[in-house]
Amino acid sequence: MRGVLDLPPQLEDRIRAVDRIIEAALASESKYVARPRDHILATRGKGLRPALVVLWASVGPGKEACPHVRPEAVDDRATIEVAAAAELIHMASLVHDDVIDGSTTRRGLETLNALFGARPSVLLGDFLFAKAFGLLARHRDLGVVELMTDAISAMCEGELEQAACAFSCDETEDGYLRRITLKTARLISACCRAGAVIAGASAEDVADASEYGLELGIAFQLTDDALDFVADERELGKPTCQDLVCGVLTLPVLRLLTHESLGPRARDLIASRRFDPESVMWVRSAVVECGGVDLTYERAQQCIEHASACASRLPAGPARDALTALTRQVIIRRR
Ligand code: IPE
Ligand code: IPE
Ligand code: MG
Ligand code: MG
Repeated sequence: MRGVLDLPPQLEDRIRAVDRIIEAALASESKYVARPRDHILATRGKGLRPALVVLWASVGPGKEACPHVRPEAVDDRATIEVAAAAELIHMASLVHDDVIDGSTTRRGLETLNALFGARPSVLLGDFLFAKAFGLLARHRDLGVVELMTDAISAMCEGELEQAACAFSCDETEDGYLRRITLKTARLISACCRAGAVIAGASAEDVADASEYGLELGIAFQLTDDALDFVADERELGKPTCQDLVCGVLTLPVLRLLTHESLGPRARDLIASRRFDPESVMWVRSAVVECGGVDLTYERAQQCIEHASACASRLPAGPARDALTALTRQVIIRRR
């Protein structure tokens, strides 16, 4: 999955360092940890969250607000360890998410849930969370710890809301945007803010980092929800149409439900909670036909325009260029 995001070559060393920290942090003598751990380390994700920590940290200290912080004083080790912690938190959330969604594949491999069952997966997810906080604790920066705990709380709130409104055809676009902000965008925003905070960025840059991350995160989940209907399953590395089958009604389906001629059949299917392959195929083409996928990409495009505006306020340089380029990559990705 690496290489989906086109990161500047000068970041490569740091991204490799993040990987080494993750591997070292997950060391365990227990064979019961080793097997599932080795399985999840066998394929890596796109690495969006650690890349954002590193990129925002490389924006550097603000001239006006923090005149005492020199660029050379930015703590590279802290950046890399916080970036590793962010990826571990994300990995933990995916391990738990695959139990919740009953997903069988992730990053092109079988999920832990499919291979080892729900109980070991829940515990391995907890193990990953614990290791993430072990890394964060090294820096005694309680502000950064709080950012991550707030993001995890938001993620749980979003997932609980999503479970509570499963199969509910009364869900609104606002409700949907609220839950994807909670479940996905808040962690992405926390990664950006953490990077800026570690670098001693100015108050304005820290605010821009948070807003950039929130908008990018919403666009990221909107794209994920569109890809659930239009991606090639093998390229995506995880099952398609999984949201629908789980009763998670995302924006493409919400649009379908309001469609004059296609909406009533969609409503009946969702109310029946029974999706045979034929009805899944029907919904899949109907969300495209009714403009639900286009609408989702339009909304994502609006979010990345906001994110780009935040990045454009940064001083010119490679970090600004990379953060701007990332906004586009997030919505043109195929996996
Ligand atoms: C998947 O996140 C979960 C969502 C928030 C949509 P990613 O697409 O970043 O997963 P990996 O780490 O690249 O596999
Ligand atoms: C994101 O939602 C899950 C988390 C924020 C943990 P999805 O359920 O859409 O993620 P995927 O599609 O399984 O990766
Ligand atoms: Mg899922
Ligand atoms: Mg998804």
